Amino acid sequence: MAVSAANEPYSIFTHGDASQRQDLITRHFSQMTAGNIMKMSYLHRTENNFTFTDADTLVGFAEANGMTIHGHALVWHSDYQVPGFMKNYQGDFSAMLTDHVQGVVNHFKTNFPGVVTSWDVVNEAVEQGTSDGYRRSVFYDRLPPAAAGEVPEYIKVAFQAARDADPSLDLYYNDYDNTANSARLAKTLDIAQALKDDGTIDGVGFQMHIYMDYPSIKNFKDAFQKVVDMGLKVKITEMDVAVVNPYAGGTPKLPKYDEQLTDRQKKRFCQVTEVYLDTVPANLRGGMTIWGLTDDESWLMSQFANATGAVYENVWPLLFNADLSAKPALQGIADAFTGKGCH
Ligand code: XIL
Repeated sequence: MAVSAANEPYSIFTHGDASQRQDLITRHFSQMTAGNIMKMSYLHRTENNFTFTDADTLVGFAEANGMTIHGHALVWHSDYQVPGFMKNYQGDFSAMLTDHVQGVVNHFKTNFPGVVTSWDVVNEAVEQGTSDGYRRSVFYDRLPPAAAGEVPEYIKVAFQAARDADPSLDLYYNDYDNTANSARLAKTLDIAQALKDDGTIDGVGFQMHIYMDYPSIKNFKDAFQKVVDMGLKVKITEMDVAVVNPYAGGTPKLPKYDEQLTDRQKKRFCQVTEVYLDTVPANLRGGMTIWGLTDDESWLMSQFANATGAVYENVWPLLFNADLSAKPALQGIADAFTGKGCH
C-alpha cells in the first residue's frame, strides 16, 4: 500500500481517522511505500543535510508492525522533488549522485535493518520523442550515455551506488505505460539489460496506472513475460484503476458509480492479479502495490486535471471508499490470490 505520511492531507499519522487508516493497512497489507515522503527532496534538501525524521516515523511504524518498505525513489526527474542543490551542481556530479544514493540507502540499512527491502533506484527515465528515447533531465544532462546506443550514465551510477551500499536490497528500474506502449517497454528492457550486464538490477517496476478496459490483459501478460524471460523480478509498483480514461479523446463522461461499476472494477483488479500470478513465477514476484488507500486520496484527480483540463471530483481508482469501507475490488484481489476466479 502506498501511504501518505508526515503532514500530508491523508497522512496515516495526522489525519482525523489516522488510527483507522493504520488498522486497515496493517490488516490487509504486508508492505508500504511512501507516496511522497521518501522522494529525493524530502530526504536530501541540501548537499550536506539529510532529513530523515518523517521517513523514520514511517519505517519505524512498518518495523513495529512486521511490515517491509519498498523505497520510492532514489532518482526521479520530476521537478518538485529534485533537490535544489542538484539543479546547478558545480562539482563532480557522479560523486554527488553516489553520495545521495548511498546516504539514503545506508541510513535505512543501519537504523532499520531488514525493513526497507527494495528501492526504485531510478524512476521514469524513458521518454518518447527524444532522439534516443531517454528523458532529458538534470541527471541526463550531466551524465548522458557514454556512447550512442548506450544507457545514460546516471542510471548506471545510481544502481552501482545502491548495490555497493547494500547488496541485500532488491533494486528496481520503475516506469509507466510499459504495458500499453511497446516502444516504451523496449526502452525499459534496454535499461534492464544493461544493468543486468553490470549485475546491479533485480527487477522491473510496472507502475500500472490503468483503466477499466485498457490496456488489455494480454498486454500485461506479454510485458511481464519479457521481464521474466530475462530472469528479473516483476513488481507492480503503483496500481490504480480509474473508472474513466480522460486520454481516450473527447471529454469522457464519468460513468455512474453504482454496483455494476464496482463489480466490473472488482473483476479488473482480480484479472490483473491473476495474470500476474499466472505469468510471474513465485521467485520472481516483487509484489503488488496499490497507489493510495481511499478513493478520495488518489493523485489521479489532480493529474487528470493538469493533463487534460477536465475536472473529475472522483475517479474511484482504489480499494477503499472515502469512509474507509472496503470496495468489492479488495475482494477481487483476494479472489485471485485464493484461486477463486474472477467474477
Ligand atoms: C505522485 C504522488 O501520488 C502525488 O501525491 C504527487 O503530487 C506527485 O507524485 N509516478 C510515480 C509517483 O512514480 O511518484 C507519482 O506519485 C505518480 C506517478
